[in-house]
Amino acid sequence: MHEQLRQLRDRAEQIVAADMWSYLNRGSGDERTVQEAHDAWDRYRLRPRVLRDVAQVSTAVDLFGRWRTPIGVAPTAFHALLHADGEVATGAGASAAGAPMVVSSRATRRIEEVAAAVGGPWWFQVYLMRERAITGALIERAAAAGATAMVLTADTPYVGHRARSAARSRPLPLSDEQALTNMRDHLPADVADIWDAIDQRADLSLADIAWVAETSGLPVLVKGVLRTDDALACVEAGASGIWVSNHGGRQLDRAVPTAAALPEIVAAVGDSVPVVVDGGVRDGFDALTALALGARAVMLGRPIMWALAAGGRDAVSATLIELTAELRHAMGLAGAAQLADLAGSMVTGR
Ligand code: FNR
Repeated sequence: MHEQLRQLRDRAEQIVAADMWSYLNRGSGDERTVQEAHDAWDRYRLRPRVLRDVAQVSTAVDLFGRWRTPIGVAPTAFHALLHADGEVATGAGASAAGAPMVVSSRATRRIEEVAAAVGGPWWFQVYLMRERAITGALIERAAAAGATAMVLTADTPYVGHRARSAARSRPLPLSDEQALTNMRDHLPADVADIWDAIDQRADLSLADIAWVAETSGLPVLVKGVLRTDDALACVEAGASGIWVSNHGGRQLDRAVPTAAALPEIVAAVGDSVPVVVDGGVRDGFDALTALALGARAVMLGRPIMWALAAGGRDAVSATLIELTAELRHAMGLAGAAQLADLAGSMVTGR
């Protein structure tokens, strides 16, 4: 893990209440998948190229929006629990670093406010809720507010049991006001149970990819894919991108590390659609490995939340800038002047 990130995590741990800290960091079950995530990147070794003119190294990326770095912010819920400015601080921090930002369906600031704080391209993460019309309204608002892609989370038909999380027995210190920030205006008048209405649907299927694409008019990435057959089925059903993820080990425990699933999925989809990855990425070398294995962007979940808690907007941007600097340095040493110069042949072993 990058030293600056380690320091931020330690600082955040001092600040954040114990049950919240546990909600943030814990995984499901015995936490096998959480524990293996970073080590799986670390098991790869690099085969650098030499004599490639790396006097200028660029990390610029064009992926449903143009950014200065392919290291971005994965969608995570309830930022107001970590910082008073919530997703507005996160979005502004990502934007200052020129990094992709994905806004969660469970954001605690209004979509339009976060979009204004970002001030450039961003993506919106979609949970298909039991009351479909609420999701439809959020998608339309996100598209109107300038989202450039939708991310349909497919690995959460049920929320994974976090056995060791205090938050499971005790609810998070989240007010209804915060939890319903974006949903409030769209609740049906005759709703029997609000929390049931906004819970995820368990009958999510391939057909919903087209529904999100039609409702938004935007490209859809499917998040939570770990198998080649699923990746191909998503592309066939209209997905414009695949996001390899095990939800940071918070859903099915013992799911494979994303570092292991990524190369097969990249090989299966070929050039048909871009592949994004997250899970256990903690420094520029993890990012380099993922990008060389064929990911077009690499997303961070918990590290961004540690930064947000420890230092708000400035710490979020500093984290993204620091990890990007480490990636740029590693690219130079690996013989890649731009992201397109990274290749699977530069990575060996698992
Ligand atoms: C998440 N994640 C997540 N994913 C999603 O699609 N929608 C969401 O609202 C959330 N919320 C959420 C909350 C918290 C506290 C965490 C830690 C994670 C999953 C997230 O997008 C991402 O897949 C993982 O966090 C990536 O792993 P790392 O970087 O945390 O190891």
